[in-house]
Order: sequence, then structure tokens, then C-alpha cells
Amino acid sequence: MPDFLHMEGLTAGYGQAVVLNGLTLSVNRGETLAILGRNGVGKTTLLETLMGNTAVKRGAIHWLGQDITRLNPADRARRGIGWVPQEREVFPSLTVQENLQVVALPGVWNTARVYELFPRLRERRGNYGGQLSGGEQQMLAIGRALMTNPQLLLLDEPMEGLAPIIVEELADAIRAMCQRDGLTAIVVEQHPVLALSMSHQAIVLERGSIKYRGSSADLAGNPALLGELLGVASHRNAGQPSADDAAHAAAGPAAAQPLAAQPFAAHPAAPTAH
Ligand SMILES: Nc1ncnc2c1ncn2[C@@H]1O[C@H](COP(=O)(O)OP(=O)(O)OP(=O)(O)O)[C@@H](O)[C@H]1O
Ligand SMILES: [Mg+2]
Repeated sequence: MPDFLHMEGLTAGYGQAVVLNGLTLSVNRGETLAILGRNGVGKTTLLETLMGNTAVKRGAIHWLGQDITRLNPADRARRGIGWVPQEREVFPSLTVQENLQVVALPGVWNTARVYELFPRLRERRGNYGGQLSGGEQQMLAIGRALMTNPQLLLLDEPMEGLAPIIVEELADAIRAMCQRDGLTAIVVEQHPVLALSMSHQAIVLERGSIKYRGSSADLAGNPALLGELLGVASHRNAGQPSADDAAHAAAGPAAAQPLAAQPFAAHPAAPTAH
């Protein structure tokens, strides 16, 4: 059994309601896992369960060789699981610099490295959290999580609601921290092209179970399978983005290339700065 992160037969939900159904999944150190799936399939619940915010009914979570299934969220955070929730959490009345410093824990990540990853935050370091645009707040939310020096970072729809140019900037930064800096991450992302371009492995969830697991490169190279798994063809009118929609709407020219050109593995060097 891999000893970094392993979930075994995990059944979890809220109160009596079961959302995740016997999920078994491993993540290796240095790997980025994308979680895909339609609205309401349990993507956020999976991250919440890793953080300890749901009721686990069966199964176990092993983290760094230890069973953390019953640990509370604060203890999990102390053991190195970092979390960027879907609602960006920044302090509006603290400056960017203060937002970063108040959560700092010892480790390789410090304000200088966060500013290197997000040059925009350096420019805005004297501004208050409440003065930032949505994209800058998201960068700050990620920066804050990095300042806690997690060994695993959980990101829930980091691109949601952001302008295409910012999406591209953020995607570059996430690729840089996962690939160049070797951070292990689990990223929930609705836009499949973008998600696959940022990850090594991908799972597709359906009603709380894993419908597909494979390499992101393989899935990105098979748009027909991707469409089938995400029900794109039959759900185009239900707000589900298709691969084409995602390519054009989400990430600008880079993502408008053919799917096969997109996977993470196709970016061997540090991404170019924009
Ligand atoms: N706090 C909660 N209490 C009870 N049920 C919840 C709670 N949060 C989510 N659920 C339910 O759990 C199921 C999975 O929700 P979840 O938020 O994990 O889906 P998701 O895949 O993240 O969806 P989205 O793409 O809309 O973010 C849904 O049926 C949802 O209504
Ligand atoms: Mg969600």
C-alpha cells in the first residue's frame, strides 16, 4: 500500500446522508490528481472528507502511514494537509502581506516564494484583502495555503468565476507549484481540459463512486471517452462545459490547442511567465 495518501472503501456524507460510496484511491507524493465530474457528484465532499469535515461511516484514510480517519480538521492541517476551499478565504482588513504572514509555518514556502509564483500579489502586497479582484483573492487564498507549508494541497475549483486571462495565469502558477516545485495536490476542476493540463492522474466521479481512473494524458488524448464520462453530449444545455467550451472559455490560446497537446506531461520545463 502506498504510504502517502490512501483511502480505502471510504463511505462518507453529511449526517445520515451518504455521498461517497466505498471509494478507494491513492495519491503518491509529488503527484497531482484531478477530480472531474458533474455538479453534485461528490467532488467537494471528497475534499471535505480528507479534511475531516464529513461523517465517515465506513472505510479509512491513511496519511503518511497513519490512520487519520477519526482525526479532527485542525490535527489534519497540523499534519500537513492544506485546503483552499471553494469560497476564497482571505482577511479583507489585512494587507496581502499580512494575510500571508499570519498563517506562516516553517518550511520551504515563504512570502518571497509565494510572490515569485504570483507576481501580481507582490505588486499588491500593501493592498487590503478586500481591495483585491476575484482572481487576486484566489491567488492569495492559494498563497495562504502554501504559507502553511502543506505536504498535500487540496484545491476546490480554483478557477471558478474568473476571467480567462486570470484563469491562464492561475493555471500556469498551479502547474509550476505542482510540477516544478513538486507539491502534491488534489484539484477539483469543472473544466476538463484545464484540469487534465494541470494533473498527472485523473478520476471521474459519478454519484460518489469512481467511474474512471487513469492518466491525465491518456484521458486528454481521448476526447470521445472524456465526453462520454462527463456526459457532455447529453448535458450541453445543463451548464456542463464541454472540452471545447473549456478550451475556449477558460484558458485562452494555450488551451485552445488540441486536447492531446494539453496534458501536464507535455510541460517538462517550468512554465513560461506571462
Ligand atoms: N453540508 C451538506 N449537507 C448535506 N448535504 C450536502 C452538503 N454539502 C453537499 N451536500 C450534498 O452532497 C452531494 C454532493 O455534493 P458536493 O458538493 O460534494 O458535489 P460537487 O461534486 O462538489 O458539486 P459542484 O460541482 O456543484 O461543486 C450533493 O447531493 C449535495 O446536495
Ligand atoms: Mg463542489
